[in-house]
Amino acid sequence: MIYADYNGSAPICADVKEYLVNRLENGPFANPNSIHQLGQKTLMGMENARAMSAKLLGCLPKNIIFNSGSTEGISHVFYSVLNDAEEGQILISSGIEHSAVVKVCQHWAEKRKLELKIIPTLENGVIDLNTLQGWINEYGKRIAAVTCMAANNETGAVQPFQEISKAAQKDSIPFICDTTQIIGKEVFSFKECGADFAFLSGHKIGALTGSGLIMAKDVTRLKPFIIGGGQEKDLRGGTQNYLGNETIAVGLSYFEKMSQKLQNLREARDNFEKRIKDKFPEVVIISESAPRLASTSYISFPGIHGQAVQIELESQGIFVTTSSACSDNEPSTSKVLKAMGVTDDVGRGVVRISLGLCSPIEWYETIGNAMIAAYEKLSKIKSY
Ligand SMILES: Cc1ncc(COP(=O)(O)O)c(C=O)c1O
Repeated sequence: MIYADYNGSAPICADVKEYLVNRLENGPFANPNSIHQLGQKTLMGMENARAMSAKLLGCLPKNIIFNSGSTEGISHVFYSVLNDAEEGQILISSGIEHSAVVKVCQHWAEKRKLELKIIPTLENGVIDLNTLQGWINEYGKRIAAVTCMAANNETGAVQPFQEISKAAQKDSIPFICDTTQIIGKEVFSFKECGADFAFLSGHKIGALTGSGLIMAKDVTRLKPFIIGGGQEKDLRGGTQNYLGNETIAVGLSYFEKMSQKLQNLREARDNFEKRIKDKFPEVVIISESAPRLASTSYISFPGIHGQAVQIELESQGIFVTTSSACSDNEPSTSKVLKAMGVTDDVGRGVVRISLGLCSPIEWYETIGNAMIAAYEKLSKIKSY
């Protein structure tokens, strides 16, 4: 079996698995807010995880608020930043954001009567930084917030988030950066990223699903989001997911340990794409010319439905995804690809192969064989 949907969810990584087996065997299991010894021991374990995560993410423990994952974190931060925004202020987002950001931007734009401006996307899947910089110069302090992801979940295209941070900082405009896909796939530092707020999702880095965190330059800018027992600096009430939070630190250390493999993974991905293109020159590699996550490949054979390719691969035990949102069984081009100006013929054909640092490099050989067989079979059917 080859699992090639890491951008959807990464499997629990080897070190996290080992950690959990030990942890479940030995405990302690207690409420980290209890004053007895077991509670304090649990709390200490979780606070160690916060300190270790902070070190590995390039921030301080005080910058981290644990939560259930990025969707929650994004909702929390936008609520904190935009709840007091004034009618007529501007909210800037991009056309390639995850629905967690898209929907929350629409919500706050409607609720606070903000003008929502969408940064155009270049053909290679990277946002048009010049337009954004122009808007920041033109509108300055009228802008309530700028949001843009660090790496796109479909294409893997890495966005110029450091430049965005610098541009936004000039006018003290809050910059909210959805870093969900870049963490655990490229070397990342919150400090160097420069954003005011960033996010981590446990299930994207090989830690437990249902765990996650917000990184905030200044946590006092966050408002209480879940009212309860005062946990997480009174910002997110509720007994903490201490086991999940501990696995975040282990997952991040695993990435650090394995990160020298990134270059090999990138080369294997590039060779795999070249092999497919040499065989089928009509194949399109989405975001090929952009800086891209080493582990993501987004391929389309125009005229062959991505879902048909996905089914062929699955019959060989290879699990990939397509981007198509299906309505009435009519696959359609994703909004990300539309923002890039990709035609429907290409957009309906895409298949996303996303691996991780623990995937054997040889998998690309097997996936390549299966893709070639699928394209050969399906292009014959297409030509009848
Ligand atoms: C870019 C991006 N942002 C946010 C999310 C939401 O993350 P979570 O599943 O932790 O809520 C995802 C998950 O697919 C994502 O890829």
